[in-house]
Amino acid sequence: MIQLHDITYHYPDGTPGLSHVDLTLHKGECCVVTGPNGCGKSTLFRVLNGLAFPQSGSYLLDGQPVTERSLRSRSNAAAFHRRIGYLFQNSEAQLFTRSVEDEIAFGLWQLDLPEEEVHARTEKYLRMLSLEAMRHRAPFHLSGGEKKRCALAAVLAMEPEALILDEPLGGLDEEGQQWISDCIRSLKGPDRLILLATHSRSLADSIADRRLTMDKDHRLYSAE
Ligand SMILES: Nc1ncnc2c1ncn2[C@@H]1O[C@H](COP(=O)(O)OP(=O)(O)OP(=O)(O)O)[C@@H](O)[C@H]1O
Ligand SMILES: [Mg+2]
Repeated sequence: MIQLHDITYHYPDGTPGLSHVDLTLHKGECCVVTGPNGCGKSTLFRVLNGLAFPQSGSYLLDGQPVTERSLRSRSNAAAFHRRIGYLFQNSEAQLFTRSVEDEIAFGLWQLDLPEEEVHARTEKYLRMLSLEAMRHRAPFHLSGGEKKRCALAAVLAMEPEALILDEPLGGLDEEGQQWISDCIRSLKGPDRLILLATHSRSLADSIADRRLTMDKDHRLYSAE
């Protein structure tokens, strides 16, 4: 589904993010990326989500190049974001509506789903992430772990083919970690690609079909 070939990326200030990264991801697999702080996991995810464009190398989604130019077309960008759901490492960067329920419904309205479907999915994911009691609260005023659950609900509600989750357990208490780990495991299936970055060994051990690791030189390796 996703193919990266020889991707190198550095930030505008010259900081290196990715060095000669090759990666092939197939539908149906769950792939876990680990590596030390600053090795480039979030940078890799930004590239995969079309938020950063590498200086060299190629990115193909089902054989079609994903470039700054291709995503400039609104219809291409909409189709792309429909297929790939992205949970940011920092949930605050992701939450922007006035209530938890609006946060979940917002993306669904963008999909042009019928009103009943938007309401049904909003209720389903409020329930799945145990957010019903805080549905009218402002996402910005939730605790760190609650924000993570709200952002995850909004991403999952889109029911994308590929889920790219950056530190989904970040800021969660032990019970929350267990519970979100179980929730993510339940999303594995033959039609879904899951790629996640985590510092949690137990999540990585319990969910990964394939392990990748990045080193401090921003290179990506198979950890098998
Ligand atoms: N906006 C930015 N501008 C400049 N440099 C950045 C920016 N964002 C990240 N970096 C740098 O790029 C490198 C890779 O960062 P990245 O966030 O991808 O690491 P990471 O593997 O996700 O780390 P962590 O485990 O802490 O989440 C680091 O050296 C980081 O300081
Ligand atoms: Mg990161």
